[in-house]
Amino acid sequence: MKVKINQRLLALATFIDDGDHLIDVGCDHALLDIYLAQNRKDLRIIASDAKEGPLKQATENVKKYQLQAKITLKLGNGIEPIEEDIDTIVISGMGGALMVGILKYQTPRLKRVKKIILSPNNDVEFVRKEIVKLGYKIERETLVLDHNFIYPIIEFTKGKKRYSKKEYLFGPLLLQEKAPLFITYLTKQKEVTEQLLAILPKKYIKRRFQLKQKLKMLNTILSPYKKKVGPLSSIVG
Ligand SMILES: C[S@@+](CC[C@H](N)C(=O)[O-])C[C@H]1O[C@@H](n2cnc3c(N)ncnc32)[C@H](O)[C@@H]1O
Repeated sequence: MKVKINQRLLALATFIDDGDHLIDVGCDHALLDIYLAQNRKDLRIIASDAKEGPLKQATENVKKYQLQAKITLKLGNGIEPIEEDIDTIVISGMGGALMVGILKYQTPRLKRVKKIILSPNNDVEFVRKEIVKLGYKIERETLVLDHNFIYPIIEFTKGKKRYSKKEYLFGPLLLQEKAPLFITYLTKQKEVTEQLLAILPKKYIKRRFQLKQKLKMLNTILSPYKKKVGPLSSIVG
């Protein structure tokens, strides 16, 4: 029986190649891992979670699809459950600051990690900056629309590269590609930034300056587009 997963997890799965040795940190239900075990070749998969409840659910799901031989389930905080042979880390569905904390405070465990795939719920600029500081560059980026919410997915690979403020803020590859969903995403960000500026008291000089700078960049990028945004309930920023 083939597992069915949502658009967000399907998009994440496209970042995993045959032969990857991965740990899915915060696997929760482990549906991504089950999908990968069923649809990719020669994977080594550790599905881990910090909480017993989600791991129990993951264990039941793995049994249901009879994938115990292909998925190792581990209880543990962050990348503590990583093993020597793991070369890929996937973390999705958490706040960006938590993801950065998980990676930044356990750097010795990153020694053999070639690829880090992150899909943060927020603080995307912070995530890009901090992971680049750890010695990774941005290899691939995409946005996915799922249940009226736009999620970013970023793949970092080992290497050094410099990025501008604008690239950290909006994504160097997303900026190059300028896909229609990216324009929707930025148009919504522009609305939110304008709303924030309208309510933020004048005494918050630094924050107001940052928001004005962001708005200026958004206006420049969006100037060739006259697109109206649909009723997206929420976006990440
Ligand atoms: C919202 S779920 C996301 C599940 C899945 N990754 C996805 O994208 O659908 C977040 C999961 O991360 C787990 N989690 C939170 N903090 C964690 C940490 N420090 N280490 C490992 N797992 C953690 C939670 O227990 C929860 O199961």
